[in-house]
Amino acid sequence: MFQTKITEMLGIEYPIVGGTMMWITEAEFTAAISNAGGLGVLASAIYQSREEFAEAVDRLLELTDKPFAVNLNLFPMMRPIDNNDYLDVLLEKGVKIVETSGHSAPQELCARFKEAGLTWIHKCVGVRYALKVQDGPRDRWRWHIRRQGTCRGPGLRRAGRDYRYAPARH
Ligand SMILES: Cc1cc2nc3c(=O)[nH]c(=O)nc-3n(C[C@H](O)[C@H](O)[C@H](O)COP(=O)(O)O)c2cc1C
Repeated sequence: MFQTKITEMLGIEYPIVGGTMMWITEAEFTAAISNAGGLGVLASAIYQSREEFAEAVDRLLELTDKPFAVNLNLFPMMRPIDNNDYLDVLLEKGVKIVETSGHSAPQELCARFKEAGLTWIHKCVGVRYALKVQDGPRDRWRWHIRRQGTCRGPGLRRAGRDYRYAPARH
């Protein structure tokens, strides 16, 4: 059992966040990570319709009672439906943690994250992008910088190899 800011923030046993993977982190994979004590992250963009996504969240809720997150993909080409529709579903189902990624914050979604009281993780490939997100709207937010392997970013060396977090703002 580890106690770190991230285990406290997410309610998990080990400070391990499973990388979201399109086509791979479906309900079963996500539940396996959460059941092992990390944070599994379901890739919403796998699902082509609201109904398919809702079924995947239901399946995940059957498979685990541990914390998990849902990734909302900000790359338009990878996203079959509007993120607001995915967000509707995850709020209906009572999901508590949402993950986004990219160079900037999804400002149009931030207000909804805040209103719903979601814990929001924004994943960046470099410090400069995390700082840009940090300087965004003063909403409830948290950022992290993942150690990057397959998606190397220009700020990697300066980012260091560990997770970093900023305190939530309200
Ligand atoms: C096959 C594959 C699919 C991925 N799909 C997503 C995705 O849908 N959304 C996302 O935010 N990141 C996605 N990623 C990025 C990973 O979650 C992770 O941030 C990245 O691979 C860096 O972590 P690593 O150093 O452990 O590989 C994907 C990565 C891989 C390899």
